[in-house]
Amino acid sequence: MKTKIYILLALLLSLNSFAQKFEELAQTPPMGWNTWNKFGCEVDEDLIKEAADAMVSSGMKDAGYEYIVIDDCWHGERDEDGFISANKERFPSGMKALVDYVHAKGLKFGIYSDAGGTTCAGRPGSRGYEYQDALTYSRWGVDYLKYDWCDTDGLNAEGAYTTMRNALYEAERPIVLSICEWGQNEPWEWAQDIGHLWRTTGDIYNCWDCEEDHGDWSSWGVLQILDMQEGIRKYAGPGHWNDPDMMEVGNGMSTSEDRAHFSMWAMLAAPLMAGNDLNSMSKKTIEILTNKEMIAINQDSLGVQAFKYQAEDGLEIWVKPLANGDWAITFLNRSDNEKTLNFDWKKHLIEDPDFDYTLNFQQEEFQVNDIWANKNLKSTRKELKTIVHPHDVLSLRLSKK
Ligand code: GLA
Repeated sequence: MKTKIYILLALLLSLNSFAQKFEELAQTPPMGWNTWNKFGCEVDEDLIKEAADAMVSSGMKDAGYEYIVIDDCWHGERDEDGFISANKERFPSGMKALVDYVHAKGLKFGIYSDAGGTTCAGRPGSRGYEYQDALTYSRWGVDYLKYDWCDTDGLNAEGAYTTMRNALYEAERPIVLSICEWGQNEPWEWAQDIGHLWRTTGDIYNCWDCEEDHGDWSSWGVLQILDMQEGIRKYAGPGHWNDPDMMEVGNGMSTSEDRAHFSMWAMLAAPLMAGNDLNSMSKKTIEILTNKEMIAINQDSLGVQAFKYQAEDGLEIWVKPLANGDWAITFLNRSDNEKTLNFDWKKHLIEDPDFDYTLNFQQEEFQVNDIWANKNLKSTRKELKTIVHPHDVLSLRLSKK
């Protein structure tokens, strides 16, 4: 009898309390590329291979990009045992071969599923197949799962994402879990031990200051998404990031808008998932996506998001504490007019509203580097006098003198 109880206890323990998320992953915001923003459902194995090739040849891999993620629409049917496979016309070599190709480039592979019965584009979802799908992904060698929230009537978000977390853990291959329920159930409140990143909003699209109304949902421009990040920075940190959605850099906004978008995502310690066609990037797009200093702000080991310090007349000042006492400051000009800056550092005492960091220019002097111009400016002893162009940023790194 006693033995039976012990076995039962051991079983229960192994099913519940041992399952957890893979803690060591995503210690800095994940960086990579995802098919959705540019290609939607038009995905096939050649597109993925070409993207992996381009990630290496463009210098993006050297700059830190790592994950090649296929979003929705890769799916074929489930077989008679319930196992999912890739669509045979679009992925004739099968998913395992494609994952091997991406790995051989020194990159990692991401895939997409949905907690409901069907994905947002109507393909098979993982509801009721969570453990089986996790096992399949693990066998294929997948490193990252974006897990969506369509067709989930009657499901509890925390419960559904916990089920997939546990399934991945049981399948024993470390896989980053990217939660995508659009911020509807305030995942920042509960997802820290479940996923490595969570979407905070609905979908982005390639527009600076816009809303696109689709009837019962909207997609949002860069400024709208930025404004929706209010109040949640304290929930993010190494291993668990707020995700303001994938980037639209290179998808049609102006160069300054792309630069501002990229800078703000870097300041927010957001996952940096490129969403453009890596095979036809302009030189300017590559320069933006691979700016090493801006990426260093994003990947800083402290893992603290920027906060909005001031906002006046379309000009915002965002401040991000960095490791070793450095800081990043971005002046964001949201407006259509040029802004003149006369910024006397010594008049500012900047206190982080959520964490214990203070920037006191009376006590400390910093060297100032203009990240996009790649040049040293005068130190914080001297007033900063410059202009910020419309829909653009001035991004600075302050290093301790
Ligand atoms: C949702 C997600 C998008 C994308 C699509 C795919 O809208 O938010 O990022 O994954 O589904 O159908």
